[in-house]
Amino acid sequence: MPSDQPLFASDRRGSSIHSEERAAEEDTALLGGQRNVDSSPQSRTKFWRELGLFTWAVIATAAVIVLAVYTQHQGSRQNDNKAATKGKRNLIFMVSDGMGPASLSMTRGFRQFEGKLPHDDVLVLDKHFIGSSRTRSSNSLVTDSAAGATAFSCGLKSYNGAISILPDHTPCGTILEAAKKAGYKTGLVVTTSVTDATPACFASHARYRSQEDLIAQQEVGEHPLGRVVDIILGGGRCHFLPNTTSGSCRGDNRDITKLAQDKYGWNYIDNRKDFDGLKLGNAANLPLLGLFARYNFPYEIDRRNMSDVYPSLDEMAQTAINALHLATEESDKGFFLMIEGSRIDHAGHGNDPAAQVNEVLAYDKAFGSVVKFFEQSKTQGVLVATSDHETGGLSVARQLTPSYPEYVWYPEVLHNASSSAEHSHRRLAGHISTGHNNIKDFVTEELVQTGLGIKDATEKEIKSILDNPQFSSIAFAGMISRRAQIGWSTHGHSAVDVNIYGSKGSEALRGNHENTEVGNFLQDYLNLDVGAITEELAKKSHALQLSEVDSLPWSGTLPTEEMVHSFEQMDSLPRGLEMNLP
Ligand SMILES: *[C@@H]1O[C@H](CO)[C@@H](O)[C@H](O)[C@H]1NC(C)=O
Ligand SMILES: *[C@@H]1O[C@H](CO)[C@@H](O)[C@H](O)[C@H]1NC(C)=O
Ligand SMILES: *[C@@H]1O[C@H](CO)[C@@H](O)[C@H](O)[C@H]1NC(C)=O
Ligand SMILES: [Zn+2]
Repeated sequence: MPSDQPLFASDRRGSSIHSEERAAEEDTALLGGQRNVDSSPQSRTKFWRELGLFTWAVIATAAVIVLAVYTQHQGSRQNDNKAATKGKRNLIFMVSDGMGPASLSMTRGFRQFEGKLPHDDVLVLDKHFIGSSRTRSSNSLVTDSAAGATAFSCGLKSYNGAISILPDHTPCGTILEAAKKAGYKTGLVVTTSVTDATPACFASHARYRSQEDLIAQQEVGEHPLGRVVDIILGGGRCHFLPNTTSGSCRGDNRDITKLAQDKYGWNYIDNRKDFDGLKLGNAANLPLLGLFARYNFPYEIDRRNMSDVYPSLDEMAQTAINALHLATEESDKGFFLMIEGSRIDHAGHGNDPAAQVNEVLAYDKAFGSVVKFFEQSKTQGVLVATSDHETGGLSVARQLTPSYPEYVWYPEVLHNASSSAEHSHRRLAGHISTGHNNIKDFVTEELVQTGLGIKDATEKEIKSILDNPQFSSIAFAGMISRRAQIGWSTHGHSAVDVNIYGSKGSEALRGNHENTEVGNFLQDYLNLDVGAITEELAKKSHALQLSEVDSLPWSGTLPTEEMVHSFEQMDSLPRGLEMNLP
């Protein structure tokens, strides 16, 4: 001990001993020991002896637990494999794209406010929380949805933008492909384009997520393994229609809906009436391709008013579950289904809390239906749900003034909004493009007061919208966020760990895991060998038309940072808006 600091050192030591004793006393009391710890020398000896015994007991118990967990971990793959060979199994994997832990706190608070519910009223998800997932990709601490979904589909890390392609540009076999090959029925249900990164990663392979035309072809069966999906429900019709059709966003004149029906035997539907004809899956014929939106579905907050056009996530989930259940009734193999709450992510990119809470509630409802299905099903099965990443850097509080803030946020502001910022933006664009001239009144009364439920908009806020109508979505979302005192730190993704939820049987995913371990769990649960699929794909990879990429600027190389960046931008609102403008 340095002699030049005796006082400081002994002081520190003294106070540290003192506080450690006190902490130990408090611990003992908390652990059910004596409440008033006697401080006589005799009882102090007793206390230390007891503490010693207690510490030893804790260490011994911990060692036993560690050993047990280790042994179980070592044996878990074999155990699962044994069980899998014994019985028929169903597996449903749910992805809440871009939903971080703060989204749950915000949505729970919103729901309690809206339903006047007690503080212990929680989401269905909350009751099935089991752990958390680390999300980084092979080339960044902040992942995108493509690398995130590749971790789930292949159980391997890859670069941002990769659609079940590894950093060396070779395809990796996916859980869905392996399930199909093993005799399971398979399905994908989403509220974005079915060619978007998350669904794409399960049934296709592309060097970059932008190759959605190629992804569409592979998803219907132009794939080395042939058709690997039995039911696909979602949006993104534009990538299946030839460029000669209005409503197409394909680069060529191929009609993929026709290819799907003529060559690969799909039943194709594209509207609500035909969806209703499926009777929630009880009258569905597989394979079934249902594309109900040209691009994305509207946000739930807006869809509620257009439910005659678009089915809900829960309705689509139930339809797929029933259809797959019926199709596998006579089989000794069950099904694998991926269901995505796709647009939680978009509400994060748009920093729109009113849109987001309703997206999360819609996802929670679908999650509840899946839980119910497994509770009633005679076939054993597991539900695992997680997110690929967080979006928006959401914070459920926000300081608006230099003075110390109050501890509040206002769910009532979100409750009063009946339109998303995106929908309001689209209505404004429509209003301007049809040559109306009372734009200011329209913005103030129709969009802000009626749509967003904001009665106290300032002149400055209205002016900023009128001055930059192309950015009105951001302005609308900002008006709501500030009033609700909800904070955002980015329009992109963040690196925060995301939650894992699961039904009985998913215990191996308790605690904190790498996202690839979630993918590995899925494979293990169905006892599938994705490695064999990877080998098969390697032999036939020419059929994936990966070489098509060679005509694109990033051929043979990883996308540059700028490309990744510009893509992340496109992942957010503006792209969706352009596609959906009247
Ligand atoms: C449509 O696709 C064909 C190739 O299939 C191409 O030659 C043509 O230029 C495309 N048309 C438009 C308007 O993009
Ligand atoms: C809801 O839809 C009805 C007609 O379908 C329309 O008149 C009304 O303006 C819509 N409300 C919103 C908030 O968009
Ligand atoms: C929400 O709307 C109600 C009814 O119009 C209004 O009384 C209330 O002040 C609004 N709340 C907020 C926070 O704007
Ligand atoms: Zn994502």
